[in-house]
Amino acid sequence: MIGQACYPPPDSALVVSCALELIGLTMVRSMTKAPSPPDFELTPACLAAAFAQALALARAFEGATAPNPPVGCVLLDAAGAVVATGAHERAGAPHAEAAALAAARAALSFDRARVAIVTLEPCNHHGRTPPCTAALLTAPVQQIWIACRDPNPGVAGGGLERLRAEGRHVRLWADLAHEGAKALAADAERLLAPFTRHSRTGMPFVTVKQALTPSGSMIPGPGQKTFTGAMALDLAHHLRRRADAVLTGSGTIIADDPLFTVRRVADHVGKRRILVILDRRRRVMPAYLEAAAARGFDVWVEDDIEIALRRLGHAGVLEVLVEAGPALTSAVLAGPHWDEHVLIRQGARADLADAVSVIRRGANLPLIPKGPPCSLE
Ligand SMILES: NC(=O)c1ccc[n+]([C@@H]2O[C@H](COP(=O)([O-])OP(=O)(O)OC[C@H]3O[C@@H](n4cnc5c(N)ncnc54)[C@H](OP(=O)(O)O)[C@@H]3O)[C@@H](O)[C@H]2O)c1
Repeated sequence: MIGQACYPPPDSALVVSCALELIGLTMVRSMTKAPSPPDFELTPACLAAAFAQALALARAFEGATAPNPPVGCVLLDAAGAVVATGAHERAGAPHAEAAALAAARAALSFDRARVAIVTLEPCNHHGRTPPCTAALLTAPVQQIWIACRDPNPGVAGGGLERLRAEGRHVRLWADLAHEGAKALAADAERLLAPFTRHSRTGMPFVTVKQALTPSGSMIPGPGQKTFTGAMALDLAHHLRRRADAVLTGSGTIIADDPLFTVRRVADHVGKRRILVILDRRRRVMPAYLEAAAARGFDVWVEDDIEIALRRLGHAGVLEVLVEAGPALTSAVLAGPHWDEHVLIRQGARADLADAVSVIRRGANLPLIPKGPPCSLE
């Protein structure tokens, strides 16, 4: 029903809407204003290009924002030129809309902003920062294009309705008459998936990375820690970059002494991850745990997959990357808690590239990540 809710019919101007004010918990009645007819029309191609730009802005901070989602915002003028951009860079920092509006102010272009493109419905509640709906309402923005409704039942969205009630045109990306719009909306939905999983269930989004030899083995040859190529290794580090925690088993640590740091791609500045080691028999040596802590990890030694994942969710972790050997990988994949399975198959011959496939449980959506096509290092 989200699509139908985009443009209220003109006679809805007199519909009285009720909004629950979170602050003070009082019911406030407000008259819905009819949006004024837009005095400009941007082409679908121009809007779709801005959707892609907003998505790229958000993606740059994928893995940096927990427990918040990565969000991007682009402000356009009435001719479709970019006025300013913004992204949510980390929890406690300004939201994407506020960042873009501040950038527009700093560039003395605030008065030109007519269209806001955002990857997530603007928030309508006071959290660590003021509501983005209020910030947008201070600007001359007439049209707001949203990729995804806020999935968080705890705050119950309401940003779209509030903006409409104030006479703004609010539309969803998927409703744009452009061949690329639905795919861009689906990409934004995938980018939001860890936040969606966490805010709805309290559990993190679990990505399982698994590399296989042509014969289907996960075990590298003698003296080796990996058997996949450079592109697959880059992908592994990209997956670590977007994760808030790495989950592994004692067998991998004993066999490989892995670093689990992000090295082949630039990491988020100041990012700290949790390294969870499933080790019921406590076979991992204290020296490994100390060295991992010295590399910047918060190290947890755990006994149970589900309990570990619940603890991670409770700690605000949005995404966990499972980098384990066959014993733990198969246990995770046999259970109910994984979301995305990134499978790397080594090329059958040295001159053949590794093949990457991504299976997302419960969704038939575009494959993410889109970075270079991994293995343990
Ligand atoms: N190809 C790849 O993608 C890849 C990735 C990582 C590692 N590896 C290779 O995998 C090999 C190690 O294999 P592995 O199977 O021993 O490593 P693993 O799966 O990382 O660790 C297995 C250990 O995890 C512990 N564990 C705790 N809870 C478990 C559960 N629910 N189910 C299963 N295990 C649980 C067990 O020890 P306790 O019983 O003491 O708890 C078990 O011995 C190494 O050669 C490494 O190079 C390959």
